Amino acid sequence: MIHAGKVAFITGGAMGFGYAFAEILGREGASVVIAEINMQGANDAVAKLQAQGIKAIAVECDVANEDAVNAAVAMAVAEFGGIDILINNAGLHLTKYNLPFTTLTRDDVRALFDVNVMGIVNCSCAAIDSMKSRGGGNIINISSMAGNMATSPYGVSKMAVRGLTMAFAKEFADAGVRVNAISPGLMATDSAMADLPADMVSMIINQMQYIHRQGEVEDIVNMMMFLISDKASFITGETFRVSGGASLAS
Ligand SMILES: NC(=O)c1ccc[n+]([C@@H]2O[C@H](COP(=O)([O-])OP(=O)(O)OC[C@H]3O[C@@H](n4cnc5c(N)ncnc54)[C@H](O)[C@@H]3O)[C@@H](O)[C@H]2O)c1
Repeated sequence: MIHAGKVAFITGGAMGFGYAFAEILGREGASVVIAEINMQGANDAVAKLQAQGIKAIAVECDVANEDAVNAAVAMAVAEFGGIDILINNAGLHLTKYNLPFTTLTRDDVRALFDVNVMGIVNCSCAAIDSMKSRGGGNIINISSMAGNMATSPYGVSKMAVRGLTMAFAKEFADAGVRVNAISPGLMATDSAMADLPADMVSMIINQMQYIHRQGEVEDIVNMMMFLISDKASFITGETFRVSGGASLAS
C-alpha cells in the first residue's frame, strides 16, 4: 500500500483514465475524491470503489468554474483532511474539438479552453495551499499527443497543458510539489473508441505508431504511478509521451 494515508483529487474520475487512476490509487491505500460534472457517473464510480474497500467520495465540480472548484477542494479537505495528489484529467476531447477553428463556434472554442486550460489553473490554484500544508505532493496533468503539433483547437489546448506544467512546476517547487504531464496517444478508453471510426483506429495503430498494438488505459496508469513515486523525485515540469511512438511520427 504505497499511498496509504494519501488523498488523491481526480477530476473527471467517473470513467476512462480518471476512474482507472482512482482505482489504482485507492488499491494502494489512498483516499480518492472523484470531482465530476457527471454526478450519476461519479456516484456509480464511488460505489464501485467502496465495494473494493476504498475510501472514496464524489464531489460535484465543473473544473471550468472557479467557485465550484474551490468548493469541491474544500469538501475534499473537510472529508479527508487535505490533498496530496491532484490529477488534472477532465478534458473535452473527441472529434468535434479537432475540427478547424473556422468550423467551431467561438463558444465551443471558449468552452474547450475553459475546461482543458482554465480547469487546470482553477484546480491547481485551489489545491496548492492544502498540498503545501502537508509538505508537498504531486500534480499530474493530462495533455495529449495532439499537443505536440497543435494543429487543431484541441491540440492548442493540450499544448497549453504542457506550458502550464512548466509554469506550475516552477511556481510550486518551493512548496515541495512536483508537476508533470502525460501525453497519451490514442488509448482504448470507452469514449475514444466510441468516437473514432474503426478504420482510423487501425490506421493509427498500423501506420502512425511504431509499436503496433492498441494503447491501453493501463499504459497511462503506469506512467502516472511512476511520476508520483519517489523514483521520479528529481523530475518536474516535464511532459511524457505514451503513444507507441505515434507522437514521433506525426
Ligand atoms: N482517450 C484517449 O485516447 C486520450 C488521448 C489523449 C488525451 N486524452 C485526455 O485524457 C483525459 C481523459 O480522457 P478519457 O478518454 O478518459 O475521457 P472520457 O471522456 O472518457 O472521460 C472524461 C471525464 O471527464 C468528465 N468531465 C468532462 N468535463 C468536465 C468538467 N468540466 N469538469 C469535471 N469533469 C468533467 C466527464 O464527465 C468524464 O467522466 C482528457 O483530458 C483527454 O483529453 C485522452
